[in-house]
Amino acid sequence: MSYNEKWTIGELLAYEQSAAILAKHLPEFVNEPTFKMASMHTLDQLAAIPQVNLPKDRLGALKADLASVNIVQASSQSASAAPMTAPVGSLSHAGKVIIVTGAAGGIGRASALLLAAVGAKVTVVDFNEEAGQETLRMIKEQGGEGIFVQADVSKSADVQRYIEATLEAHGKIDCLFNNAGIIQNFSLLQDIDEEHFDRIINVNLKGVFLGMKFALSVMEKQGYGSIINTASTTGVRAEHSLAAYTASKHGVVGLTKGAALEYVKKGIRVNAICPGGVATGITASVPQQLQESGYLPEEFPNMRMGRYAEPEELANVVAFLASDASSYMTGSIILVDGGLTL
Ligand SMILES: NC(=O)c1ccc[n+]([C@@H]2O[C@H](COP(=O)([O-])OP(=O)(O)OC[C@H]3O[C@@H](n4cnc5c(N)ncnc54)[C@H](O)[C@@H]3O)[C@@H](O)[C@H]2O)c1
Repeated sequence: MSYNEKWTIGELLAYEQSAAILAKHLPEFVNEPTFKMASMHTLDQLAAIPQVNLPKDRLGALKADLASVNIVQASSQSASAAPMTAPVGSLSHAGKVIIVTGAAGGIGRASALLLAAVGAKVTVVDFNEEAGQETLRMIKEQGGEGIFVQADVSKSADVQRYIEATLEAHGKIDCLFNNAGIIQNFSLLQDIDEEHFDRIINVNLKGVFLGMKFALSVMEKQGYGSIINTASTTGVRAEHSLAAYTASKHGVVGLTKGAALEYVKKGIRVNAICPGGVATGITASVPQQLQESGYLPEEFPNMRMGRYAEPEELANVVAFLASDASSYMTGSIILVDGGLTL
């Protein structure tokens, strides 16, 4: 079989002789992931990409070499089927080690239970020791494996402790679900106490930052890992009377995108979920808070589905993002809001 100019890079890479000729003429390209990206292009199409910067004389010499050999198929695979068939990721969590913060209740507990049920070893992190231990007991009751670490996610030493405890117990971290968070007291911005503002930012934003900071240094050494941050619909648009909370969750979106960009070539994916209203301790506390403060926001969110989400409906998305089935997702800000932001 002889080469003609309609052959794609993928086809050339599929045969021993032509792959060797490509390696001889384009040694700086052949092992680059971007070269494989060009597998559907012909050599002329490749040379037309300005960044490739392939001089005409090198292209000519390469084509001449290719034309002079008789190319034989190396394997039973056909040339068109050989290149670019990436393995499809698995939804399984068997053997994975996953840290879940804020796992004493709500979205965190539902996620910890689901992840453990599908095979992950879960580090349950929360500052509420009693309820955190209860989550661990529930994990074990359903036949799962895990440990509990009591920690305040806004404190650097506590965060390092849950990272180290996980490594000590299981030797690796496949995924961190950075989920602990608190709601702001509803009020106009001018009435937010400085101390309260600091607390919201420290737990919701700094807590996420610290978790990422210490998990990423482990994951970078491993060469793999996944981080899921809990932002909120307030991470992508404002909610009335929740300016500090809105700012903290916009910050979580920013950290997610920044880290996704920095670690995309290091085998680490970073994504965020944005719940709308979920039936958890946070939403349960709102009516009482409004009653006690005597304050009513001028606007309320429109729960278009006529109900809150169940925490398990968020856990399903977390399990997907923590699995290899989401292997092409990083920097994704996933709305799970029942249409709230439409
Ligand atoms: N419930 C909602 O409607 C909603 C909507 C959008 C985003 N969220 C976010 O989802 C996440 C989980 O909240 P939830 O709704 O499950 O509420 P939740 O109150 O049921 O759970 C939050 C958990 O975080 C823990 N926690 C709080 N501060 C902590 C700290 N400093 N250190 C360690 N643990 C701490 C709490 O003890 C609790 O177990 C939060 O980040 C929240 O902002 C919730």
